[in-house]
Amino acid sequence: MIVHINHIAPSKAKGAQVRQAESDLGALVTGCMMSMVEDGILDPQLAPSLRVHLDWIHYRSNFRDPVIVRRTTDSRGRTLALAEIAVDLRQADAATIQGELLHAVRSLCPGAGNGNEEGHVRLGAFTPYRDCLMWAFNRLFWQHLAEWEAASGKGFEKALPTGSSDANHPAAVADSAKKFLAHLMELETKHQAPSEIVGLEIGVGTGARAAAWLDRFKEYDAAAQTGFYDRTQFILGDYSPTSLERALAAVAHHAPHVKGVALDALNPLKALTQYRFKVMYVHSTNTYDNLPFDDIVRRDGRLYLMEVRAYLTESLVGPLCRDFGFAPEDLPGVVERLLKDGPAALFPGARGVECWRRIWEAFKLEERLRALDDYEEDHVPPGLNRTHLEDLLAEAPDDVRFHISRGAGESFANTLPLLHPRGFLEVQDIFVSDMNDYRKGFRGPGKLDGSLVTWVNGALLRAVGARAGYDVHFAAFPYRPGTHTTVLYTTQRD
Ligand SMILES: C[S@@+](CC[C@H](N)C(=O)[O-])C[C@H]1O[C@@H](n2cnc3c(N)ncnc32)[C@H](O)[C@@H]1O
Repeated sequence: MIVHINHIAPSKAKGAQVRQAESDLGALVTGCMMSMVEDGILDPQLAPSLRVHLDWIHYRSNFRDPVIVRRTTDSRGRTLALAEIAVDLRQADAATIQGELLHAVRSLCPGAGNGNEEGHVRLGAFTPYRDCLMWAFNRLFWQHLAEWEAASGKGFEKALPTGSSDANHPAAVADSAKKFLAHLMELETKHQAPSEIVGLEIGVGTGARAAAWLDRFKEYDAAAQTGFYDRTQFILGDYSPTSLERALAAVAHHAPHVKGVALDALNPLKALTQYRFKVMYVHSTNTYDNLPFDDIVRRDGRLYLMEVRAYLTESLVGPLCRDFGFAPEDLPGVVERLLKDGPAALFPGARGVECWRRIWEAFKLEERLRALDDYEEDHVPPGLNRTHLEDLLAEAPDDVRFHISRGAGESFANTLPLLHPRGFLEVQDIFVSDMNDYRKGFRGPGKLDGSLVTWVNGALLRAVGARAGYDVHFAAFPYRPGTHTTVLYTTQRD
């Protein structure tokens, strides 16, 4: 049996009490596993292929129970020997952990039953992350944002782990507008600036950033008397009707120069074909971290695709059924109705939204590792091929779990053709720019109030950019100490 400690979060950030509790728990887990070996509870046949993973998931709310079992299967779903018990030290409770570990070990023993002794209300079969139901919940959240916020009593920005968005940092916005103006001035001296200057923001949220950026750009342009503002058309792109409506209200004082476009961030080009090669400036913050991904795991030189099975956790199912008059067996159908037709399909008004919030609270994921066959390609994002993944794996540690950020890659690949040959793109998000960083801690997904967030594989975006003729760079976001935000920007290859 091998124990993996999967995090090196700076312990200062956690405080002495948390650190102590965490190391006590770590010791308790290893002590407990040793006792189970010595007492013969852990089958000697099983022990050599069992791994225990100790995580510290920095998202207080996430999709995992404190102790989970991950089986491995071959490509046809037949169980293989390697098995994992994963413990989230942040959620685990010293009072219950021994019982949970015992239960986990017993579930791995031959003849252990169907593995649903917990009474999970399962919502379908195992699927890769990219097809998980959580994406339908995420979309539902953005489509019904105003209703959720009315029920929670707070805007979505307050629900972010930091309580605010780096999108709107005044100094960052001012520097971005200044940099863009300087770029235009340089092009103008060479007679290379286009007559119409098109800007685009993807995933506009409240529109606060677009408004501040346009305010600053107009102000600097007026001070420099360059006349670019009058030539500017700024597009606000989003798939949430509420976000678009709010953003357009926020930039109303720039009305002749702005327009809102309903678009899917996965393919901005589709809604903006007339702007191909015309956009001088593209900005996006915290949208890539909201797009589908897959997880790949390498163990002992073998590659696995992480598969997940959604369920509603037992402890919350009883109260949910009681308060809304469901039987547990109704719940998969209830979830289907909710995702298809929205909260009003469950109950009218606030009660429907409350029911939706309670379902999301109970929503969790089981995990398993499915061995990848050599010929499989489905996990390779559009526009890339297996060689790109092999390059990433060559950079990665031997034993690793990492994201294939297929949604971010797709979005990026379908935005680059919009760029004017002298335009540039800047994306602020939580990027993993070095594959080694996947060894240093959990990189998502985290569960937010109604939506989700996950880190984005920057090395993968570098490969996507290179194919389209762009170099991709990552720069620190210097405006807020301790932030995880990084800025991705492009330069065109010669
Ligand atoms: C987390 S918010 C970020 C908002 C803002 N940029 C900020 O950082 O404060 C994500 C935004 O992206 C939008 N969004 C998420 N997925 C999208 C998709 N597939 N297509 C278009 N917009 C999307 C949401 O509607 C929301 O406005």
